[in-house]
Amino acid sequence: MPRYTANDASLAYTVHGSESSTSPPLLLIHGFPLDGRMWQRIIPLLERSYRLIVPDLRGFGESQPTRKASMARYADDVALLLDHLGHTSPVIVMGLSMGGYVAFEFMRRHGERLSAVILADTRVEPDTREAASGRRDDARRVLSEGTRFLIEKMLPKVFGPELDGTTRQAWFERMAAQPAEGVASALIALADRVDSTSTLGTFDKPVLIVVGADDAITTPAGGRAMAALNPRAHFVEIPGSGHVPPIEQPVAFASAVREFLESVSRK
Ligand code: MLT
Repeated sequence: MPRYTANDASLAYTVHGSESSTSPPLLLIHGFPLDGRMWQRIIPLLERSYRLIVPDLRGFGESQPTRKASMARYADDVALLLDHLGHTSPVIVMGLSMGGYVAFEFMRRHGERLSAVILADTRVEPDTREAASGRRDDARRVLSEGTRFLIEKMLPKVFGPELDGTTRQAWFERMAAQPAEGVASALIALADRVDSTSTLGTFDKPVLIVVGADDAITTPAGGRAMAALNPRAHFVEIPGSGHVPPIEQPVAFASAVREFLESVSRK
């Protein structure tokens, strides 16, 4: 995989699709504790029309594990990736769950580099005090005993009932293989993240909010409430999917993205 250096870390990414696309490139930011492979089922569906930039956030996948992580640092890392690739004109950021939290930080820190955002299965609220404290406990445990216990705890909520057992097991193994250091530092970053209600409410470019109909982590009701915060937000629910529609219902997810991008390009 190609790599670039972001401050203190060597980070990996892939690029797909056409350089001559007239649409701005899409920057795809994965959820926790996943990596860029999370998008692999939608890449073939979108790459003919769009240029897709797919990073592994620091500490995940092929990117260097690091104890230094925060939503701001992840957002700055992907902004540096755009610099590295020579993208000076605006892009569309698409973030799923934790990737959505990174997208909010990108909106705050690099908003001038955006032409639209796609927020999938995410939320604007920060953790409650109790949830944040649970994440800090998990971070300590991950460093002492590895990630497996955490994935066992999370998995029942991640995917909806329609995902086949083989795919579910393959993702269990991939998540359990993420480096402990990267997972623990991401848990702290998740616990420390700030409220993004006003960031979404005041964003003045097109927004798509997508949620799996069976998402038990960031629910469709939560997605609808997010969409109500911004007059430019459009909401789509993906039937037959839990928390990760690009894995669970790639065709429906890619269609929702394509329809949104086509509507944006007509305006
Ligand atoms: C994710 O999928 O990125 C996580 O569910 C985010 C979270 O735990 O808040």
